[in-house]
Amino acid sequence: MGNGLPLMPEHDPRLLVVDDDPGMRALAERFAQRHGYQVIAREGGHELLTELPAIRADVALLDRNMPELGGLDILRAIRKADPTCQVILMTAEATVDSAIEAVKLGALDYLAKPLNLERLGELLGTVREGIASRRLLLAADMALATQCEFCGMVGRGPAMQELFDLIRRLAPHARTSLITGETGTGKELVARALHKSGPRHKGRYVAFNCAAITESLAQTELFGHARGAFTGAVDAKAGLFEHADGGTLFLDEVGELSLSVQAQLLRVLENGEVQRVGALDGKRIDVRVIAATNRTLADEVAAGRFRQDLYYRLNVVEIPIVPLRDRREDIVYLTAAFVREFAARFGKQVLGLLPGAERLLHNAPWPGNVRELRNVIERACMRSEGGMLSEREVLKALGGARPEAVAAGPAAVSVVPCAEPSPELTRPIIVQALQQESGNRSAAAKQLRISRRALYRRMQALDIS
Ligand SMILES: Nc1ncnc2c1ncn2[C@@H]1O[C@H](COP(=O)(O)OP(=O)(O)OP(=O)(O)O)[C@@H](O)[C@H]1O
Ligand SMILES: [Mg+2]
Repeated sequence: MGNGLPLMPEHDPRLLVVDDDPGMRALAERFAQRHGYQVIAREGGHELLTELPAIRADVALLDRNMPELGGLDILRAIRKADPTCQVILMTAEATVDSAIEAVKLGALDYLAKPLNLERLGELLGTVREGIASRRLLLAADMALATQCEFCGMVGRGPAMQELFDLIRRLAPHARTSLITGETGTGKELVARALHKSGPRHKGRYVAFNCAAITESLAQTELFGHARGAFTGAVDAKAGLFEHADGGTLFLDEVGELSLSVQAQLLRVLENGEVQRVGALDGKRIDVRVIAATNRTLADEVAAGRFRQDLYYRLNVVEIPIVPLRDRREDIVYLTAAFVREFAARFGKQVLGLLPGAERLLHNAPWPGNVRELRNVIERACMRSEGGMLSEREVLKALGGARPEAVAAGPAAVSVVPCAEPSPELTRPIIVQALQQESGNRSAAAKQLRISRRALYRRMQALDIS
């Protein structure tokens, strides 16, 4: 891919075979192994149900009639335990009724015994391609994420492209600027980008968090102090302004500075001169000041907590960052970039996200913005056993208790078959449903639990009038 992307690790698809007939199990096992599958064979029974979530099969081949638990019961359990697993049922006596039931439950296909191995081979191939194409998709997202990266910031949508343009335009001019945005939107990254892509990139970049410090300490940290300026000031000390001379000083959370430090800051900005605490004269400095805040400074001014003149001074160039919920088009690329980062860090073979998981991320409210998304992907990758991240894993990483995130999505649990069932299977089912509903397509669609449009599409494909 040429972007320095790690090759996506291979992962053998996994097939679960459940049949009480050992001969059948052995046959399916040999056959699937030849198709590159890792096979887990079980004879059925209730123990299997507790084991299901751990098996993590990509596809299950289930016998319809077994003494203890039938294939349909296992199919239902799989739907709950692992909604992304594809299911193929096998039966000695295929009837339209049981086929309908299977399809309603989301089975991929229904095979008669003795097995048509050619058809089984096709199905296994389709499932494997489905996994491979999702893997390709993630690789493509990762490549795009790399392409749309600017100074470590990923952003493909219009909001971020505008932001990148603004940074490129502002960077050469070393003007004082104010970055505004909610927590976790990337203000610190923007400050670094301004520094790195400007003429001062060889100078120092000094970051100072105005919130993490008391008023008197903030003063001496920023402006330094003269020798003997106060008890304990044995030596003179340069402040951060002097350190950053010729470079950039980033004042994070500038809204937290006390009014008196604000006054001193304004003086430095206006005179281009810094005076150490207790010193008699000032020193000329050449520092680009970038401030950031997640407060609305205009409100702070109105409340008397922020100096209006300093606000005007900083606000000449404002760089607003849009919250993540208002640029959801970036989520997939941010996710791809973070999966790449954390899969490598934890040494996990995380291949990507299943569609349900992706949808969950796309619809979550993200009050903590990109930082929160990054943390969620970190947690999910840390706990992942490899393969595709499922909806369940992402939900857990989101904290599990995020009903609004789930409710916002079209469906809490989605079943996305990666292949259409075979026409021999679907044709009689659709015809029967239409006959039972006297040709009423809406009713037939409802009975089949598919949308009307999906029913039309299939009727057309199968030439049913
Ligand atoms: N566009 C982006 N691409 C990649 N990573 C991002 C992006 N935006 C933010 N991040 C990551 O999200 C995290 C939070 O970013 P940052 O610290 O810059 O946010 P912030 O706006 O300064 O937040 P706060 O107001 O809480 O200080 C960081 O780990 C950062 O690397
Ligand atoms: Mg920050």
